[in-house]
Amino acid sequence: MDRQRRSHLAHADHPIAAPIADESVARLLDRAVADEADHALDLGCGGGEWLRRLLVRYPWMRAEGVDIHTAALEQAREGAEESEVADRLILHEMDAAVFASAHRFDVVLSVGAAHAFGGLLPTLAAARELLAPDGHVLVGDGFWEREPDAAALSALGATWDDYADLATTVDRVVADGWTPVYGHVSTAGEWDDYEWSWTGSLSRWALDHREEPDALDAYKVAAEHRSQWLSGYRGTLGFVTLVLRRSP
Ligand SMILES: C[S@@+](CC[C@H](N)C(=O)[O-])C[C@H]1O[C@@H](n2cnc3c(N)ncnc32)[C@H](O)[C@@H]1O
Repeated sequence: MDRQRRSHLAHADHPIAAPIADESVARLLDRAVADEADHALDLGCGGGEWLRRLLVRYPWMRAEGVDIHTAALEQAREGAEESEVADRLILHEMDAAVFASAHRFDVVLSVGAAHAFGGLLPTLAAARELLAPDGHVLVGDGFWEREPDAAALSALGATWDDYADLATTVDRVVADGWTPVYGHVSTAGEWDDYEWSWTGSLSRWALDHREEPDALDAYKVAAEHRSQWLSGYRGTLGFVTLVLRRSP
């Protein structure tokens, strides 16, 4: 099954493509959007859910989203139209790592897309170039809740040094010239909701569309993902979302 189609189906019940609950998303946005902010950018915006919520919540704002996948951007466009915010949204289909703009944004988001830049610090380097002087970055990435064992690494297709523990992750960000003004560590409940939603939505679609040529494939992918999560990285992979400003 095509990866984008799979992702679209798997996120039907949890459109934020990260283990973050709706209330946490709203709180993070409130901490990242200052009163005078008017222009946001999302690097690796996927289906545009962060920007859709931002534009609904702060009706004076405009936003731009960057993603490499056509289908994700189509979804972002449709979502924005349904929420009647499309006139304030510009979407760019391109590699976020090479996105450039003469504009400096008040809020730069990048959640779950650090792989596009080669890691968390390169993501922040890209955000820094695009950020207004007093702007906020909202960035989400993985960390190790505990030392990963071979099963966790294999399930994630990761290596030990892909992430660090939470304290080291934040220390590195601070040493890179950023000040956390808020942060959210995804809870076990948020992770479970995200993974049950991902695997459950895809399984349900496969069961309800047995006539589709890729239904069996979808069913197997969901089962494999569930097993990789439960027997592999559950409780080992963490997720932290930071709201950052430049340090003095
Ligand atoms: C885990 S999803 C997160 C989507 C969104 N930020 C969210 O939290 O709902 C990662 C996104 O990064 C996008 N992506 C991956 N590589 C990229 C690249 N080089 N340039 C732009 N987007 C990229 C994927 O297409 C996908 O939409």
